[in-house]
Amino acid sequence: MKVGPHRLSSPHLLGIREMSVRDMELVLETADSFKEVLARPIAKVPSLQGITVANMFFENSTRTRVSFELAEKRLSADVIQFSAQNSSATKGESLLDMVQNIIHMRVDMVVLRHPHPGAVHFLAQKIKAHLINAGDGTHEHPTQALLDAYSLREKWGNLKNRRILILGDVLHSRVALSSILCLRKLGAKVKICAPLFLIPPGIQQLDVEVEPRLEKALSWCEAVNVLRLQHERQRSLVLPSLREYAMYYGLKRAMLEKIGKTILILHPGPINRGIEIETEVADAPQSLILRQVENGVAIRMAVLYLLSSASR
Ligand code: CP
Repeated sequence: MKVGPHRLSSPHLLGIREMSVRDMELVLETADSFKEVLARPIAKVPSLQGITVANMFFENSTRTRVSFELAEKRLSADVIQFSAQNSSATKGESLLDMVQNIIHMRVDMVVLRHPHPGAVHFLAQKIKAHLINAGDGTHEHPTQALLDAYSLREKWGNLKNRRILILGDVLHSRVALSSILCLRKLGAKVKICAPLFLIPPGIQQLDVEVEPRLEKALSWCEAVNVLRLQHERQRSLVLPSLREYAMYYGLKRAMLEKIGKTILILHPGPINRGIEIETEVADAPQSLILRQVENGVAIRMAVLYLLSSASR
């Protein structure tokens, strides 16, 4: 494994907005080395021996939670799993008090998923442990964007001038902002396709184009990242009907066949099969969805390793 004495420019991974291009490339390159480790019969290295990581999830998660836990264990860290439902959060303890108490038990790193945008940025001003944002409300999900970029980079070598479409519920998605920032910083061109009521105002300021016609948007792109329709975040009923959404914005085999070129398919999960994507498309040969999940472990190993290097 050729991992060198590199480190990120910040002690935390708060969001892609705060990351330099060099930081992002360092994560991607370090993940290459950890993919080699993961391919070994015994996929474990001592890089985080003596380091304790608390995974604090205040929102449900399958992929991110398991992926971080696996990444930490593959790096030989000591791991604490914290779930809000079984904690003193139910007695009214504040987030800051909880995290401060946990790090005073000599925890070195905290991986935080929280429903409030900016929760991890708030903690970063108050506490000393390394913080990793595992998704903060509708704001950012930086490790998801990095693993998506990594999965495309594996196919293409680099992302310079590649044409990537982000399709679906951009308004309620934390993946969308991280993904747009990450892809643009790595040199890709990005378009957004969704009904206008699912696109946040001012999105063009992120240097992306909006194309509300799905067929036109697909004809342009080389890869499409399909976003989940986020029922649980739709406080008001912004969506007239699921059936109508699936009809006009669901990614379907028939439309891909009509366009007649191979478009790489990504989805951060969990998938609403038959709504934003047809099963035949999610499971098609050009789908990278399970590859994204696989690469997530290497990306999270890289992030944990590089952040922990800062204190060694
Ligand atoms: N992609 C993602 O964040 O999935 P989970 O919510 O299952 O972690």
